[in-house]
Amino acid sequence: MWNTTTSATGPVGRLVKLARGLTVGVTLLGAVSIEAADTAAPKPQWSTRDMPSQDGRIILVTGGTSGMGYEDALALARAGAEVIIAARNPERGAEAIARIRQAVPDARVQFESVDLANLSSVRELAQKLNQRLPRLDVLINNAAIMAPPERGTSADGFEMQLATNYLGHFALTGLLVPLLRQSQDARVVSLSSIAAGRGAMNFDDLQSEQAYQPYAAYAQSKLAILHWAFALQRRSEAEGWGIRSIAAHPGVAVTELIARGPGLNSEFGQRWAEDRDKYHSAAQGALPTLYAATAREAVGGAYYGPVGDEEKRGPLGFAKVPAAATRTADADRLWTLSERLTGVSYP
Ligand SMILES: NC(=O)c1ccc[n+]([C@@H]2O[C@H](COP(=O)([O-])OP(=O)(O)OC[C@H]3O[C@@H](n4cnc5c(N)ncnc54)[C@H](OP(=O)(O)O)[C@@H]3O)[C@@H](O)[C@H]2O)c1
Repeated sequence: MWNTTTSATGPVGRLVKLARGLTVGVTLLGAVSIEAADTAAPKPQWSTRDMPSQDGRIILVTGGTSGMGYEDALALARAGAEVIIAARNPERGAEAIARIRQAVPDARVQFESVDLANLSSVRELAQKLNQRLPRLDVLINNAAIMAPPERGTSADGFEMQLATNYLGHFALTGLLVPLLRQSQDARVVSLSSIAAGRGAMNFDDLQSEQAYQPYAAYAQSKLAILHWAFALQRRSEAEGWGIRSIAAHPGVAVTELIARGPGLNSEFGQRWAEDRDKYHSAAQGALPTLYAATAREAVGGAYYGPVGDEEKRGPLGFAKVPAAATRTADADRLWTLSERLTGVSYP
């Protein structure tokens, strides 16, 4: 039996028809219920070999220049998708594309500049895509920074992790809903973390202005993503958008996140380096996201991740939903606040 949600209110079953006609029980949060888990649980050893062809699918991956985002872009391009990597640095973008083309010579992959910590940049990208693309099939909200030692602020004055990891993605997704609605099988996959389980929404000091704790701010941003991913699924169902919103996390994977955040010489970095042989490669860490983005049976409102070793690694399954992420009043409050902070209202 896979890990399933044990929400504060308990799982409340209902039925959802998936695209293929498979019917499974899900909780009000959208996560798969215990009774139905056997029918809907991912195959534990699911790998990119199980990915259905992505021929003709248009997929946007934020932060596809390194780590898991790069592996997502590579696997999706190999499966035939037209992939758009969106990140800050065009040189890193060009390097990523060159590496992908080396492995997949006929890859259809391109780079678009975006700084998620700058809402004008997010709006610019969304406008460009809305003008250029016939539709968007999958949006993978992957880019992030983790625990910079000093509190930074975004172009719009928000705490840097909240801005990059959450608010930028909230805005981008809202602006791309019309394009996603043009797809027959639209998905928004948003990256959380086991850190979300240690997170709390500090609505009295959401921007860490009174006190900045690097890891608490990271955990809050990842909890915010979970709240929003589940709320987006509820909204999609209520409005009939036909968009599956799915959360995923990689466990712990060897990427550039530590080096570019707290630094490899930090206490955290050194502890991490001692254990790094135990962790997932970026390619293994990408599997929950790739499953959510491509598997026909992936469930809207679910949360996928590895199920071994306290969810740090291991076979694919349903990730544990932290109790804090089941508080729908917090999710509603966050959504309203996010619309006000970003100036983006969902259609
Ligand atoms: N690694 C882990 O163990 C772990 C664990 C749990 C969750 N996660 C999550 O997995 C996701 C991928 O992380 P990773 O470990 O693969 O990290 P990574 O190797 O550091 O990649 C992060 C990506 O985000 C992009 N990025 C950062 N700031 C950006 C901004 N302001 N605007 C646009 N793009 C930006 C970077 O691109 P540029 O710098 O080129 O712009 C880079 O491509 C993140 O959401 C992370 O929180 C990772």
